[in-house]
Amino acid sequence: MYQVVQPRILCMGTGALKSLEMILGQMNPQKILIVTGPNVQRLGILQKILSAMGNYASRAETFINPCPEPDVNIVEECSKVVQEKGFDLIIGLGGGSPMDVAKGAAVVAVHGGQMRPLLGRNQLIRKGISTIMIPTTAGSSTETTQAVVVNVPEEGTKKSIWDTRIVPEVALVDPELSCLMSPKLTAETGLDALVHAVEGHTSRFANPLTRMYTGEALRLIGRYLYRAYKDGSDMEAREGMARAATIAGIAMTNSGLGAIHALALVFGHKGFTHCQSLAVLAPWVMQFNYIGHEELYTEVAEALGEEIRGLSAQEASQKACDAVRRLLEEMCISPYLKDYDIEDVQALALMAHRGGQRLLPMNIREVGEGDALMIFKMAFGYA
Ligand SMILES: [Fe+2]
Repeated sequence: MYQVVQPRILCMGTGALKSLEMILGQMNPQKILIVTGPNVQRLGILQKILSAMGNYASRAETFINPCPEPDVNIVEECSKVVQEKGFDLIIGLGGGSPMDVAKGAAVVAVHGGQMRPLLGRNQLIRKGISTIMIPTTAGSSTETTQAVVVNVPEEGTKKSIWDTRIVPEVALVDPELSCLMSPKLTAETGLDALVHAVEGHTSRFANPLTRMYTGEALRLIGRYLYRAYKDGSDMEAREGMARAATIAGIAMTNSGLGAIHALALVFGHKGFTHCQSLAVLAPWVMQFNYIGHEELYTEVAEALGEEIRGLSAQEASQKACDAVRRLLEEMCISPYLKDYDIEDVQALALMAHRGGQRLLPMNIREVGEGDALMIFKMAFGYA
């Protein structure tokens, strides 16, 4: 038995934004809060959204989330605004951070305004305010997921609310909105999508439907990520990456993630972005994981476009790891910890292992403390 949740409406493809007014007409909100970030406002995307809202634009107000990585306090601040002004629809517009703040505020506002008691699995007791997610990047995948992930400063780690009631009602994914991303942001968010697809595909809890999505996401990423990085105006590549990020998100929210995301949590308080922390772990965790699971990693290699004819299962699996490392290097993201300001690898590995306990059980191969240390040593370049 398996269950798959996803937004009620997925509105995808170039020109999808033109459907926003019609979707709003079906939902008929009286007061709309658009949660977005300063860059979206600066780049003129907010104005584009307001135009696409037609008559509904006059019912909208804006909340600017200044945090590059979402934070429990900003979610509570946003939920307070929602409660006080009685918004009945929240639009999350931007990258992962404003979308997570929007999703978080939608449920925190109907649970008394405090987020901390809701952290964990299935702590919600009622449905939140309706949400529409409009991503302007291609990678966080939060437009489809049943999770809100936030930094909890006093605990020095990230935590999440995980509940099917978090899944947005609508995900509107128009690749034209992701065209303004810089090459660096394209690379970093694309890497997040790639890791969602790899971990979703190889998770212990993957199922035939999620593997259908991850197989296609990997094919699209193999074909289009580097192209989108090299030429941001390549619409075919942008369209492919937008679709890949969204379907990888549906897969991973239903199948779970693995040791890359689990061990990456430790970098939250080292000042790394989410994408940097994935970069220094992805090739090495994959290299550890494929032993005993070569068939799955051969599928990953093949979907990414690697030539695997005539290779042994082990050689083909290694190709999957090499493909990810090569792609990172081609996009000028170092997969080696020695290139970052990190010193005590042993202490970091143990802390990562302790902090990753919630996600590690989803990983296809059991990861002990010694294994985490070996992975971090590979990441540093010792092994
Ligand atoms: Fe991620």
